[in-house]
Amino acid sequence: MAKKQRIDKILGNMGYGSRKELKKIAKTGAIRVNGKPIKDSSTKVDPDEEEIYFYDEEVIAREYIYLMLNKPKGFISATEDYLHDTVLDLIDQNYLIFDIFPVGRLDKDTEGLLILSNDGQFAHNILSPKKNIKKKYYAIIDGRVNEEDIELFEEGIVLDDGYQTLPADLKIIKSGRNSEIELIITEGKYHQVKRMFEAIDKKVIYLKRLSIGGLNLDKNLELGEYRELNEEEIKNIMTNKI
Ligand code: URA
Repeated sequence: MAKKQRIDKILGNMGYGSRKELKKIAKTGAIRVNGKPIKDSSTKVDPDEEEIYFYDEEVIAREYIYLMLNKPKGFISATEDYLHDTVLDLIDQNYLIFDIFPVGRLDKDTEGLLILSNDGQFAHNILSPKKNIKKKYYAIIDGRVNEEDIELFEEGIVLDDGYQTLPADLKIIKSGRNSEIELIITEGKYHQVKRMFEAIDKKVIYLKRLSIGGLNLDKNLELGEYRELNEEEIKNIMTNKI
């Protein structure tokens, strides 16, 4: 939790003006904290707990930011790219000033849950192979997925480079010429889900991530929408209870 800081320091650090300018602006009543004008720009506030407005704009002044994005197709999981749109192109400037980055990756054509944060330790914990954080995917497969595949996935699949994956939990939702499945894996190898199905001669034609550890994608988020995680959700991720 951030400690109380002077409001002119918080706003000054974020580029809203010099101390002198902010002093004048505060006197006009344009800086509000929890709905009340703060006329004295030396007033101390806690940016984690209190709602700060500069004119009509909400000021997000926390140290760490944690967002969940429902990633659409067509965006790459990087902070910059010369050719393609990145997931940061979906995020408002209010958050970009915190230097957020995607925690892990989804392929350009994969949809669903992507966490964005500026907290390096948090990202490290989620991505560390030692923590075995579960990732749950929904996929549509070109091919008939059957009980035998469930067993193969349970044993671990040998990928094209010879690597044998850890046991994965495959659930068939619908089996047919095109099948629908859910898959839980605890690793994050490059194109892992697609390569696991390729190894059994089937092709992923649609892929969406539904959960990471104990965090599920919020069903109210449309593709391209995002929201902040609350404290409980941040804690729940590492419980790994899908
Ligand atoms: N596995 C894949 O093949 N692609 C993703 O985007 C995520 C997991």
